[in-house]
Amino acid sequence: MYNSGWTLVLVLVFTLLCGQSKGFWPFSSISVHAATDAEDIVYLDRNAKRVAIIGAGAAGSSTAYYLQQYAAESGIALNITVFERSSYIGGRSTTVNAYGNPLEPVELGASIFVEVNTILKNSSQAFGLRPKNSETESSEMLGIWDGKEFVYKQKDSGWYYWDIAKLLWKYGLAPYRTQKLMQSTVGKFRKLYEYPFFPFRSLSDRALDLDLTSVTAVTGEQYLAANNIGPPFTTDIIQASTRVNYGQNLNLIHGLETMVCMAIEGVMQIEGGNWQIFSGMLNASSATTLLNTTVTSISKSKSKYSIKTSTPDSVTGAELTNEEPFDTVILAAPLQFSSIDLPKGLLKRTPDEIPYVTLHVTLFTSPHALNQTYFNLSPTDEVPSTILTTLPKDAPPPSKPEDSVGSPGFFSISTLHKVINPETLEIEYLYKIFSPKAVTSTFLSQILNVDVPENLTTINSGTGSPITWYYPHEWKSYPYLFPRVTFEDPELARGFYYTSGMESFISTMETSALMGMNVARLVMDDYLNVLGGEEQGQEVVKEEL
Ligand SMILES: Cc1cc2nc3c(=O)[nH]c(=O)nc-3n(C[C@H](O)[C@H](O)[C@H](O)COP(=O)(O)OP(=O)(O)OC[C@H]3O[C@@H](n4cnc5c(N)ncnc54)[C@H](O)[C@@H]3O)c2cc1C
Ligand SMILES: *[C@@H]1O[C@H](CO)[C@@H](O)[C@H](O)[C@H]1NC(C)=O
Ligand SMILES: *[C@@H]1O[C@H](CO)[C@@H](O)[C@H](O)[C@H]1NC(C)=O
Ligand SMILES: *[C@@H]1O[C@H](CO)[C@@H](O)[C@H](O)[C@H]1NC(C)=O
Ligand SMILES: *[C@@H]1O[C@H](CO)[C@@H](O)[C@H](O)[C@H]1NC(C)=O
Ligand SMILES: *[C@@H]1O[C@H](CO)[C@@H](O)[C@H](O)[C@H]1NC(C)=O
Ligand SMILES: *[C@@H]1O[C@H](CO)[C@@H](O)[C@H](O)[C@H]1NC(C)=O
Repeated sequence: MYNSGWTLVLVLVFTLLCGQSKGFWPFSSISVHAATDAEDIVYLDRNAKRVAIIGAGAAGSSTAYYLQQYAAESGIALNITVFERSSYIGGRSTTVNAYGNPLEPVELGASIFVEVNTILKNSSQAFGLRPKNSETESSEMLGIWDGKEFVYKQKDSGWYYWDIAKLLWKYGLAPYRTQKLMQSTVGKFRKLYEYPFFPFRSLSDRALDLDLTSVTAVTGEQYLAANNIGPPFTTDIIQASTRVNYGQNLNLIHGLETMVCMAIEGVMQIEGGNWQIFSGMLNASSATTLLNTTVTSISKSKSKYSIKTSTPDSVTGAELTNEEPFDTVILAAPLQFSSIDLPKGLLKRTPDEIPYVTLHVTLFTSPHALNQTYFNLSPTDEVPSTILTTLPKDAPPPSKPEDSVGSPGFFSISTLHKVINPETLEIEYLYKIFSPKAVTSTFLSQILNVDVPENLTTINSGTGSPITWYYPHEWKSYPYLFPRVTFEDPELARGFYYTSGMESFISTMETSALMGMNVARLVMDDYLNVLGGEEQGQEVVKEEL
């Protein structure tokens, strides 16, 4: 965004005492010193700004990626280290291998994104990653189950391909109004990517500027009602979407996240795993990524942040600790789950702890199909391969968020696709269940109509086994998106940035990546002294006419 089309000459700017300089770069009264030879570049590298990013998920990877791009544009030298507590890149976007077979990766966390998610889309293209447009097979059947019966069924399309003709026939104009409302809301959100709305130091202010605060201030139910959209379309279809995406009903989740659930045009996922986008970003950023490395505490001495880390010794397993100074820190993970020790007073503001959804994702394979019996279908009925859920019509929505699931007991069951069991060479089904509690063998026995042994850790892939691979995982998946009008700011103290405030606004891979891009721009602007202005002795390198 800087200088495009200008003749580029690398110019070093030492802003030694520009405390009073509040002018907008490049017109502020700062002295200029031209660097014409390699010596200055070497000098720069020695004095590179040291940046620590905590977390190698969508937000942290995107921060590193855009920091590198912005730094290259402005000629600032950066030395970026990404600390990641777990042994993999991707955070809540990760795959596991069905039957332990690397040729059968399956998403355990974030599985889809959409066409308008331009950060994910553009970067995956840039890294040569292949998108596919469904997690499930196309010749399938979708059903929405309320615990007693299917309130909606649709043939030959997954849940993110609503059959518009069928919806209009069944629900009148509500689907059309929803589509229009979604488009206008998403249109406002899209402005966050561009000048003058990008970058933003306050998400609360921007939400207000873009007239999105009025959408986050109310529940999905209220927002839809205000726009003349009501049951049964809202309770059957829209609520099935907010439940499978966020484990929440329309009486609780805010209007903006409700609209996000309906924005499913151009849905895609990356073949082999979405996490590859984030590993591509880290690779392209030339950051040093340290896996298995937990940041345990951060303190400040003079103008530097001191970061303590802990990592298990790869041979003995003994904890190895380290401490290093950084100019800038970016916490790219929810503070409340990071277990980082921060001295009192380090942050100007400490983000509020907020309730997150506990979501159990259960992946398993079985030679058995979902059975009619549990779903009160007759033996000749086809059982939907993807089952979303909603609350029964007569039941009031649970007021406690952790009771959101209601009588269906689960949020979704998806038959992803057929797989070949490497031991028996039989064709089997690969399933994914979302539920608020761990799945029990009783429940599995019921939905498959076979005897599943009580101890699920003893299952094996051999012939005759009803479950041949089993992988349960418990996530703190996303916040409960209660209506609200303020969001945590991306800067918690001078030089200390935070990405996860975004999650109470919209919780997706793309929005985390967008906050990463925003923080990268803020960090760079602060280095360039465009907005801050107060810092002394700061070096600025820029391209000039
Ligand atoms: C089951 C499930 C389904 C989802 N479905 C979708 C979907 O279909 N589409 C979509 O867009 N989104 C989906 N989401 C949401 C999406 O996964 C998240 O919004 C997004 O991935 C968050 O990215 P992040 O980088 O902000 O956080 P995270 O991915 O959580 O990354 C934070 C990282 O920081 C690390 N970390 C934390 N503390 C420390 C520390 N002290 N030291 C070092 N490292 C630390 C963590 O290990 C983690 O890797 C889903 C989430 C879940 C759980
Ligand atoms: C980054 O900084 C560390 C600590 O000063 C140094 O050891 C490392 O070599 C630097 N990396 C690069 C790529 O300059
Ligand atoms: C991280 O730890 C796991 C074991 O917990 C190990 O398998 C892996 O090799 C380690 N990775 C790195 C990069 O040290
Ligand atoms: C994505 O690519 C399109 C087309 O090149 C471009 O217009 C857009 O600005 C890019 N968006 C981002 C966030 O990179
Ligand atoms: C990593 O990035 C370099 C350029 O920075 C590129 O040449 C290489 O192909 C990338 N590797 C992967 C695995 O993406
Ligand atoms: C459901 O279970 C019954 C009884 O075991 C069986 O006859 C039927 O084929 C099963 N249905 C499916 C779809 O597998
Ligand atoms: C289940 O089986 C595993 C492996 O045999 C065993 O360690 C565990 O104690 C069993 N759990 C129960 C509840 O029986």
